[in-house]
Amino acid sequence: MPDTVPDPRERVTLDPVAIGAGAMYHLMNAAIAPRPVAWVSTLAANGVANVAPHSYTTIFSTDPAVIGFVSVGRKDSLNNVEATGEFVVNIAGIDLLERLNLTAANFPADEDEFQWANLSKVACDVVRPPRVGEAPVSFEATLHSVVPIGNCWLVLGKVLRVHVATDVWRNGRIDPALLDPILRLAGSQFARLGPLIELRRPTWDDVQAGTVATLDPKALQ
Ligand SMILES: Cc1cc2nc3c(=O)[nH]c(=O)nc-3n(C[C@H](O)[C@H](O)[C@H](O)COP(=O)(O)O)c2cc1C
Repeated sequence: MPDTVPDPRERVTLDPVAIGAGAMYHLMNAAIAPRPVAWVSTLAANGVANVAPHSYTTIFSTDPAVIGFVSVGRKDSLNNVEATGEFVVNIAGIDLLERLNLTAANFPADEDEFQWANLSKVACDVVRPPRVGEAPVSFEATLHSVVPIGNCWLVLGKVLRVHVATDVWRNGRIDPALLDPILRLAGSQFARLGPLIELRRPTWDDVQAGTVATLDPKALQ
């Protein structure tokens, strides 16, 4: 057993079962934040296009490139991916926040959110769902797997194409300040990037030699 010390901070300690699923949902959304937003476009089996934001999202593998999202409950995006085996993860800049938020309304399955949010349906190279033309980045993906977890479904997709707008592309990379992505907090709160902070990752050699990079004193002001 490691040596432990008294907690240096005063805390509230919570049991997920005792506080209940609703309170736990809000607590996790507030603590695990900000989250990026996958603006997932899909096609229903009957051909109706769908686009909806999902903030439980990340990279799951880099080689092969696998990205995914979580459907909290069964929703049109999940049904469409299961029916067609394809989806697109679009990444929106902050300028698209109102339109992205609109597409989170509980539209009936036969309503096309692209039309309601006045978004351009652009054909993909290898998958049938359209991508969002206004989004600076889009990942075309084919279904890798769906993992059911309680009331959620983790949807993983293998990336077959990436489209990046050249206005966020600088020296062969995505420039985060130009991308200016939408970040999701809890409830109705969103955020955007503040000042960027550079801090080189140390090696074990750096740690032993005392050459670990330090923060610019102005970085946290
Ligand atoms: C920024 C944002 C992030 C969201 N993230 C998720 C998420 O991770 N999972 C989820 O199931 N719903 C999420 N929602 C809610 C869905 O977008 C909403 O339920 C939507 O109607 C689902 O659309 P669909 O039925 O067309 O799939 C989010 C909403 C917003 C505004």
